[in-house]
Amino acid sequence: MIIAIDGYSSTGKSTFAKLIADRLGLIYLDSGAIYRAVTLFALQRGYIVDKVIDTGALEADLAADKVEISYNRDNPQDKAEICLNGENVESQIRLLDVSNNVSPIATLPFVRNFVDSLLRGYGPLGVVMDGRDIGTAVFPEADLKIFMVADAKIRAQRRVDQLRAKGEEADFDEIYRNVLERDYIDSHREMNPLRQAEDAVVLDNSYVSVDQQMIWLGWVLKAKLNIEL
Ligand code: DC
Repeated sequence: MIIAIDGYSSTGKSTFAKLIADRLGLIYLDSGAIYRAVTLFALQRGYIVDKVIDTGALEADLAADKVEISYNRDNPQDKAEICLNGENVESQIRLLDVSNNVSPIATLPFVRNFVDSLLRGYGPLGVVMDGRDIGTAVFPEADLKIFMVADAKIRAQRRVDQLRAKGEEADFDEIYRNVLERDYIDSHREMNPLRQAEDAVVLDNSYVSVDQQMIWLGWVLKAKLNIEL
């Protein structure tokens, strides 16, 4: 089974996708993390300087043996880890430098093709995958597609709360501008922009709790796939 969860940034895709994977015994994969790992790779190699990307050098150097997903074959439901040259880079890919450079990296067609082929290899294992183009480009044949949206101000406030909870400073106006900017880049790039697949079910979770989302999921699984949660 393949469940595709796409949507705008900070709509809670990963929280929801992890819960679904847990409940259904599927592997959870965060496709944005792979774009982040490619960005980290480019930064480490010096292929991004002051936001200018040396695309020729990156393309020449980007090979499947450098960025990989590792998961426990005996227990595939364990969290899959993103590795760069064998090293787990989960925490490094969340750093600000990576966040600030990942959107332009994700617009490059050769990067998207590289990431897509890595992700498609996991389809046969049964996955819940979140991202921006999973239901439209990576797995157009997915069994269930969910498209997540939420009011931009509410998404910005969620990010402010997350940062403050970690003891970091957060300015609402700056974060709100960043949310709008990411929405624009994600939905206006040339190759596989963020858009709702025709057969996706839309979930607006602006005023919905995680528990309520799970109830909603139960209805959708029953109606679409005849599965009881
Ligand atoms: O979800 P995230 O913020 O970790 O994603 C990081 C970046 O990768 C973001 O700019 C959107 C991009 N991305 C994408 O273009 N396609 C995907 N399937 C997933 C993420």
